[in-house]
Amino acid sequence: MGRKKKDTIEYAEADLFKTLLRLIYAVFVIILLLFGYVALKEDIHEFLDRKVYSEEELIALNKRADARRMAQLEEEKWDKVVDGVHIRTGLHDDKDLQLIIGTCTACHSAKLITQNRATREGWHSMIKWMQETQGLGDLGTNEPIVLDYLAKYYAPKETGRRKSLEIAEIEWYILDLEEESSLQ
Ligand code: HEC
Repeated sequence: MGRKKKDTIEYAEADLFKTLLRLIYAVFVIILLLFGYVALKEDIHEFLDRKVYSEEELIALNKRADARRMAQLEEEKWDKVVDGVHIRTGLHDDKDLQLIIGTCTACHSAKLITQNRATREGWHSMIKWMQETQGLGDLGTNEPIVLDYLAKYYAPKETGRRKSLEIAEIEWYILDLEEESSLQ
C-alpha cells in the first residue's frame, strides 16, 4: 500500500515536470514570436496600412500622371525654336534672342514687336518713345545689339512699287442698285 502511494506521488511529480516543460516551451515560443513581431513590425504595419486604391482613384491617379507628363513636355517645348521662330514668344531666333526677350518682353507681349516693321531708325525712335513716355530704361551697350536684331528681322517688308493694274484683267460688274436699295 505504501509503495503504491509513493508511485503515485512520483507519477504526479513527473506530470508536473512535463507540464512545467510545456509551459517553458510555450513561453519560449511566445518570446520568439514577440521578437519576430518587433523585428518585422514596420513591414507588417506597412502592409496592413497600405493604401488600397479604388478603380476610380487609380484612373484619377493615372490622369494626374499623364497631366504631369504633358506639363513636362510643355516645359521642354517652352524654349523650343521651330523653323527659326521661338515658339513661346513668336520672336525670330537669333544668338541675341535671350537678350531681346529679357529687354523687350517685361512690359508687354512680344507680339508688339512681331506685329511691327521699321527701319533701324524707326526702331530707335520707338525705343526712345518708350524711354521717354513708358519708363523703359537706358539699354546701354545692349542698344546697338537690340537695334541690329530688330532691324534685321523686323525691317519694313519689301513693298516696292505697286504693280500697275491690268485693266483687261479686271472683272467689271454692274452695280445692281435695285438690289442694294432692297437691302436697306
Ligand atoms: C518699361 C516697359 C517697356 C519695356 C521694357 C519695353 N516696352 Fe515697348 N512698350 C511699352 C509700353 C507701355 C507700350 C505701349 C503699349 C500699348 O500701346 O499697349 C509699348 C509699345 C511698344 C511697341 C508698339 C509701339 C507702337 O507704336 O505701337 C513696340 C513695337 C514696342 N513697345 C517694342 C519694344 C521693344 C523692341 C522693346 C525692347 C527694346 C520694348 N518694347 C521694351 C513699354 C515697354
